[in-house]
Amino acid sequence: MSTQNRNTIKSILKLKQDGIPISMLTAYDYTFASIIDASEIDIILVGDSVSNVFSGNETTIPVTLNEMIYHAKAVMKAVQNALVVVDMPFGSYQISIEKALENAIELFKTTGVQAIKLEGGKEIAETIKKIVDAGIPVMGHLGLTPQSIHQLGSYEIQAKSAEAQQQLLENAICLQDAGCFSLVLEKVPATISRKIAEKLSIPVLGIGAGNGCDGQVLVMHDLLGLNPDFNPKFVRKYVNLNSIVSEAVKKYNEDVKSKDFPNDKESY
Ligand code: KIV
Repeated sequence: MSTQNRNTIKSILKLKQDGIPISMLTAYDYTFASIIDASEIDIILVGDSVSNVFSGNETTIPVTLNEMIYHAKAVMKAVQNALVVVDMPFGSYQISIEKALENAIELFKTTGVQAIKLEGGKEIAETIKKIVDAGIPVMGHLGLTPQSIHQLGSYEIQAKSAEAQQQLLENAICLQDAGCFSLVLEKVPATISRKIAEKLSIPVLGIGAGNGCDGQVLVMHDLLGLNPDFNPKFVRKYVNLNSIVSEAVKKYNEDVKSKDFPNDKESY
C-alpha cells in the first residue's frame, strides 16, 4: 500500500499557513476508514467516542488502551492519505508522567498512527512535553472535554464567561508551548475559538466552536445521521443513514420471510 503522499503534521500546519480549512472526521474500523480516506479528508481521528458510538457506553470513560489500539490498527490498514490521530483513553495518562509516556509509546508503536490526542490544559502540559520530546506528535483538546464529564456536570457549552474564556486562551497557549502540533476546541463560543485560532500558530480544529477555527471535526456517526436521538445544534447530518439502513434491513427481512430471497440468479 502506497502512503507516499500521506499527510504529515507539517502538511497540516501548512494548510493553516495557506489559509486552507482543515477537515477531520472520526473512524473506528477498516471499511469506513477506507471510504473516508478516499474522500480526501485531511485527518482521521480514532476518537474515544468509539466508547459511545461503537461500544454503546454512556460516556467515553470506560474505553481501554487495548480497545483504542484494536480500533487504530483496523483504521491504519485502510488509510493511505490522511494523517491518523488516536485518542489516549481516560486513565492512560493521568497516573504519572512516566506511565503516560509508557502508554503513549505503546499506542504509537503498536498502531503506526502519526499522532495521539490528550484532553486537558495546563495540568497535563508537562506530560505532553515529555511525550513530544520522545518524538510522538500530540494534538490537544480543550473546552468540553468528555473524559471529564462528571466534573463538568453536563455536555453544555463551555467557556461562557469572560474569565473562563481567558483561562481557555491561556490553556491553549500553554498547550502550544508544550509542543502540541494542533488543538481541538469543543463546544465553546465562536468568538473565543476565532480569537484562539488567530492567536495560535498551530491549527485549531473546532467541534461546536463556530466558523473561525482553522478546521472542523465531527463524529462520523453524527454526520451520517446514524443516531436519530442525537441532535445537537453543531451537527450537520449529511444523510439519514439510520432510515436508509433500517429500510434495507426491513426489506431483506420481508424477502427472507416471503421466500423472495434468494432467487434463482442468487443461487448456485
Ligand atoms: O473522540 C472524539 O470523537 C473526539 C472528537 C469529538 C473531537 O474527541
